[in-house]
Amino acid sequence: MNQDERKQAVAQAALRHVVAGAVIGVGTGSTVDHFIDALAGMRERVRAAVSSSQRSTERLRARGIEVLDLNDVESVPVYVDGADEIDPAGAMIKGGGGALTREKILAEAAGRFVCIVDSSKLVPVLGHFPLPVEVVPMARELVRRRLLELGGQPRLREGFVTDNGNQILDVGGLRIEHPAELEGRLNQIPGVVTVGLFARRGADLALVGGADGVSERVYD
Ligand code: 5RP
Repeated sequence: MNQDERKQAVAQAALRHVVAGAVIGVGTGSTVDHFIDALAGMRERVRAAVSSSQRSTERLRARGIEVLDLNDVESVPVYVDGADEIDPAGAMIKGGGGALTREKILAEAAGRFVCIVDSSKLVPVLGHFPLPVEVVPMARELVRRRLLELGGQPRLREGFVTDNGNQILDVGGLRIEHPAELEGRLNQIPGVVTVGLFARRGADLALVGGADGVSERVYD
């Protein structure tokens, strides 16, 4: 199986975790695109979706799945999303697609985070993938200096504006041994909207697409 076939396989496997009659939380990315396509096949059993991006919202609606405002929803039992990296404890780097802020909101709102990845995303330590940090534009250079002081190498994601009208700094050069601690620290910098570290609220379950099919990892 190539990488895209692995993504399709985990997307299909995630359908088993969708709660019938409930609102489903939907992330963003190429793996989630496959999940949305698969979800369309069972849309009569899904009450509606809440979505983490304009991109996913358009895809959901195009496939006949209603998308609700999170403010109008009381509970989201399950949130399905991909990741750029996931460590052995279920902590993740996310935001490669730039949707990290709404992804973090939905992850927090959800009862259960089901992460769908191909096996290339499994890492022993986070940080090889540059860490996305969404910033308010006027604070960009201030945040960049603070990130440099912390040993990172921030680069502006050129020509990219988030769904919230902000910019993204992609921070290379980090070896993230204590992701929850770093997440808390970066959250304290004024001007930082969202850090693409999902450690304080990590995955509950990962579905991993590998050469031998889909395996499950459960996290505490
Ligand atoms: C988007 C994300 C995605 O989940 C992450 O980038 C993985 O994407 P893909 O499924 O395309 O590999 O965090 O902001």
